[in-house]
Amino acid sequence: AERHFGITIRLEDFINARTVQDIADRIALVRERDDAPGAAAVGESDSPPATPWKIAPETGASGAPSQPEEIKRIVFHEAPLGAVSGDTLKLAPGQEIAVICPSPGSTLAAAVADALGQQLAVVPRVLDLSGQFDLRSPEDAAQAAPSLAGLVLVLDETANAAIQDIEGIPARLAGFFSAMQQLVSSPDRKFCLLITRGVGDADPAAVVIEGVRGMFLDAALEYDSVLFRSVALDGGTDLSAGLKQALSLDHSLAEIRFHGQEAFTVEGHVQPLSVLDPPDFRLNPGEVVVISGGGKGITPHLAYALAPNQPRLILLGSSEFDPEADYNSLIAADAGLAGASPRRRGGRRPASPAGKSDAAMRLTSGGEIAQTLKELARQGIEATYYSCDVNNPENVAAVLGRVVSHYGGIAGIIHGAGIIRDSFMEFMTAADFTQVVDVKLLGAWNLYQAAREHGLRFMVMLSSITAVRGNVGQINYCAGNRAMAALTHVIASRQPSVRAKALMLPPIKGAGMADDPELRELMRLKGMGDSYISVGELAELFYRELFLAPAHEHYVMPIRTLPSLKTVRLNLEEGPPAPGCIIAAGVTYRDFELPMIQTIHHLEVGAGTLEAGRIFSLDHDLWMEDHRPFKFMKNPFVSGVMALETFMEAAHLLCPHLAPLGVRHVQYLDILECPPGVNREARIVCRRLRENAGGEVLCDASLSSSHITATGRVLDHWTTNYTGQVILGLPGGPLPDWPGFTVKPEELDSAQFDQKGMLLFYRKYSNFGGRYRVIQGLDGSSRGVIRGRTMVNQMDDFAGLTGVRYQYPPYLLEALKHLVNSHLLLRDENVTAAMIPFGISEMRFSRPCRPGEQIVLEGRRRSQDSGESAWDIRAVDDAGQIIMTVQGLIMKSFSA
Ligand SMILES: NC(=O)c1ccc[n+]([C@@H]2O[C@H](COP(=O)([O-])OP(=O)(O)OC[C@H]3O[C@@H](n4cnc5c(N)ncnc54)[C@H](OP(=O)(O)O)[C@@H]3O)[C@@H](O)[C@H]2O)c1
Repeated sequence: AERHFGITIRLEDFINARTVQDIADRIALVRERDDAPGAAAVGESDSPPATPWKIAPETGASGAPSQPEEIKRIVFHEAPLGAVSGDTLKLAPGQEIAVICPSPGSTLAAAVADALGQQLAVVPRVLDLSGQFDLRSPEDAAQAAPSLAGLVLVLDETANAAIQDIEGIPARLAGFFSAMQQLVSSPDRKFCLLITRGVGDADPAAVVIEGVRGMFLDAALEYDSVLFRSVALDGGTDLSAGLKQALSLDHSLAEIRFHGQEAFTVEGHVQPLSVLDPPDFRLNPGEVVVISGGGKGITPHLAYALAPNQPRLILLGSSEFDPEADYNSLIAADAGLAGASPRRRGGRRPASPAGKSDAAMRLTSGGEIAQTLKELARQGIEATYYSCDVNNPENVAAVLGRVVSHYGGIAGIIHGAGIIRDSFMEFMTAADFTQVVDVKLLGAWNLYQAAREHGLRFMVMLSSITAVRGNVGQINYCAGNRAMAALTHVIASRQPSVRAKALMLPPIKGAGMADDPELRELMRLKGMGDSYISVGELAELFYRELFLAPAHEHYVMPIRTLPSLKTVRLNLEEGPPAPGCIIAAGVTYRDFELPMIQTIHHLEVGAGTLEAGRIFSLDHDLWMEDHRPFKFMKNPFVSGVMALETFMEAAHLLCPHLAPLGVRHVQYLDILECPPGVNREARIVCRRLRENAGGEVLCDASLSSSHITATGRVLDHWTTNYTGQVILGLPGGPLPDWPGFTVKPEELDSAQFDQKGMLLFYRKYSNFGGRYRVIQGLDGSSRGVIRGRTMVNQMDDFAGLTGVRYQYPPYLLEALKHLVNSHLLLRDENVTAAMIPFGISEMRFSRPCRPGEQIVLEGRRRSQDSGESAWDIRAVDDAGQIIMTVQGLIMKSFSA
């Protein structure tokens, strides 16, 4: 229509247009308005206009699917706004404004009314609506609606004192929503303000404020010509400066906060996580997590993400569920009787709420819950579903009471219950507004109240980006999500031991209410087609946020991309990483945390895949010069223990929230030789496996390199050098004992070697240099048995890199290998063949080595067969704790 008629249309111009004639009339009105001189409205100031929403192409220029942008982690900070200088909003003589506040006799409300009256040259009316904001009563509506140009809600210190119960907040928001409906139905509508003072973030009144801010974001999209703005004053702010900002047309930002005379707005910016010093926060196996969200949609995927912690889960939804029923058969029978049952579409209204389709939907819901419980059981997680309406405090208290008496406590809550009742704000019913707000806000509060005194340590609420950017037709959802998010401050201040987080989620694909073809098309048309993140990505990000993020970052928005917004400042630029750092999938790593991974070519958090690169060179890898196990080899080569470090770093990049516990199924396939002056390029591929056992996660990994010729020329032909699987999980304690394994002195019948003897030994049989001479001494050996000692020293292993933090103690594993090699040489002095490690069935470790600590090494041969032997070996510290075990180290002899 814009192109055809040469006009600029706003959504509000066509609200309520039902017939073709209506539309024609509206177009004529818009043309008249556009042609009128000086017809600028709010949002058409001198300030540069926000970039309009564009229809995001789904494919790249070549037609190939475009590479999705990396997901960024956005948090919110105050950013200075600067003084305003340009136009402020003007009203025509005789127009009316209403100033309302929830407590009688507000001096700020009176002062605001006076100041606005003077500034706008109108006669304001202060409506003292003690305890409510409702203009719905016939008298108020009649007084206010016909020519209402402005509506101002004032929340000051007295209002703050009056608003103490969270339970009453949905009604307050509904009251103000009704007042806003009155405003937007007035032909004179011009502005709607929220002026606050003396309300702290942790006060219940802040929840009202945030709810109203959420409403403003939606309203600003629906009514482009109306100014919706919240202004928070502090005790030292000059009211006229505050109101000048409030009515400024210099910018279109919806939220202003004053500190003294200085104005700020809230800006979202990229804030990667750091894994260097993660918060001291754990969820232990068996602890209870309550998840509202019906056991359907996206919350089951968050539950699966908790598998490494092996919690007990309580799933809550309002639907009934019979754990004994065979839902698959019931659904099949129902489909046979009545045709295909309608697909349940998230929190949307059922297609037909009556009769059979209701029954069919109950079956579908039951089938989905049964499927979730089955999958959780497969992952070793004990889970129980309870039918529970989170809006109902008695219901929630009763169910969680049962949970507490059965399990003894509740460690965490994930509040994912939500419904959608979309409508343009003018037509939204009070019931639709309140129901949506209730599930979010009251639901969260009821769950918190019921769990708070029973060991609660975290509460994650699934909010939405609509609470940050608004969304046409979702004023109730915006209000509910934003008000709910504000509870994080209330909870954190009342109970600082609880990590309270609101995740402002973008649309999710793969499950849930936005995973619908029609909706995806709508999102695409809104320029948000690329904003979707997959449910797998969400699950990973949720877990990281819970276990790695600072507790004080309460609002967090994981986002891939977003069209720019008029009302909110968002800075999605990631910026270059600080020197010596790399940023990967929203996490910052210092170079000394990842000494073996140099380049990340590709990292997909949701799919759990990584491709990384590494150049090995003698110049950079100082350790390599010392890695010369064989006298007959001219050049040093990459040690297996460093290849395993590379695998663990790769797995850590995929799962930064989990600790590497060991490796298994390792194969040493080919030597990666490094002649002087030659750069050996290696590729590391790592893939997270979906099957996990007992809470442990496995990642397949491989390291390949290009061939070189005898003269050191690098060829474009690749070979795989190492493969294996990394075991990840929660950091554990000491490793379990191996009964009967201890090697006793009386078993040993061979010579002993002290440090000096070992040096001779190393010189005679190898070209190992200093740091690879890891055995300090041998206590002796007997047939198939050996015992020795190592001491791990810290050295600079990489040029220009100090304080390296390895994922595991590589030199300890090296020492265990040397122990086995020493046995062969000790027992048979005439041995001519070299022994090389061929593979490891499983290696586990419990902690890094302390510099200078003495560690006892013990090995027992398990099998021997034509040049191949298999050994079990372990490392034990001074306190008798086992810090590394290797089962099935396969050594093979080979002749040069
Ligand atoms: N999916 C997305 O793209 C997306 C984006 C942003 C935010 N979110 C938020 O993330 C949460 C989960 O989303 P989803 O996509 O999984 O939604 P969903 O598929 O619609 O699931 C929401 C669940 O909430 C439960 N629920 C609704 N009212 C309830 C009540 N009064 N008491 C107990 N349970 C209730 C429903 O279970 P019953 O039917 O059994 O009641 C429903 O299965 C929602 O809060 C949503 O607002 C989702």
